[in-house]
Amino acid sequence: MATAAEAQAKINTFLAVGPRQADGYHQLVTVYHSLNIIEQVRLSRAPDGVDCLTFDGPIDSTDLDTGSDNLVWRAVDLVAATLTTSRPPLHISVTKNIPIQGGMAGGSADAAAALRAANVELGAGLSDVQLGALAVRLGSDVPFVLAGGNAIGTGRGERLEPLAASPLWWVMVFDTDGLSTPVVYAKLDEMRAERGSGIGGTPGEGDGGEARLGDGVRLMGEAMAAGDARSVATLMRNDLQQAALALAPRLADTLAAGRAAGALAGIVSGSGPTVALLVEGEDEARSVAARMRASGRNASVARGG
Ligand code: C5P
Repeated sequence: MATAAEAQAKINTFLAVGPRQADGYHQLVTVYHSLNIIEQVRLSRAPDGVDCLTFDGPIDSTDLDTGSDNLVWRAVDLVAATLTTSRPPLHISVTKNIPIQGGMAGGSADAAAALRAANVELGAGLSDVQLGALAVRLGSDVPFVLAGGNAIGTGRGERLEPLAASPLWWVMVFDTDGLSTPVVYAKLDEMRAERGSGIGGTPGEGDGGEARLGDGVRLMGEAMAAGDARSVATLMRNDLQQAALALAPRLADTLAAGRAAGALAGIVSGSGPTVALLVEGEDEARSVAARMRASGRNASVARGG
């Protein structure tokens, strides 16, 4: 028997980052949005009795670690740990469509799909709530990617409140190099320390910022539920963007080129370096993507919701 499962890429239309906490994580208030860019994970018993993880698809995965540290194996082993018997050797293949270190939760999507596939293949019978509890242990974004759709995320990003979803159209502009998420968070801490202050409206500031933050998230949730691209464009926020731009200054040109090409607004996706350009509809997405490609960039149309 073989089992397949999928998980979608995400962007954050809203990402407010609080100060670094004692555990090294930052408190977030974020709005997650799934895109129709999909990772596929297939899992079957190893006929040769040896574990094996392979990657294929359009994303170059040659540098990925396929050993037991890979989130895919960690996900499978968390499911297997709920069984009374030991896990059989498995062959796992992942078709990668989400860029590596692109700020779109590609590794988290592999982990989420692996949780689902392992749950079926190993006959673990875990509920969505139980899988969600395992997902938290794999990474802050994994619970959202497991759930999909649109959601508000708080805590480290793992506490979810589902939101209604309508289609929104995006042009995703992929970068040649990845950015490491911990490096981008550390850069933000450094930039904030240099300025000697936090920034307005971040979680936990106790100066009324929480109320402003709550309004921004509520309005964003309403705009996304209505598929109101123009309102979403005015409400988009990513506190990690300044750090991503400091580490990869070329992204400022990509954002400017996106606006010049007709996007309503652009934002760095999560910790970057992928840039998400919001457009009015599908036709606009095709023309903005063509213009971005004509300027030598790697751009694709994506539908979110
Ligand atoms: O949770 P995850 O393992 O995906 O996080 C990767 C890194 O991103 C963490 O080690 C941390 O440096 C940073 N991070 C953070 N605050 C969050 C989420 C992630 O500082 N809320």
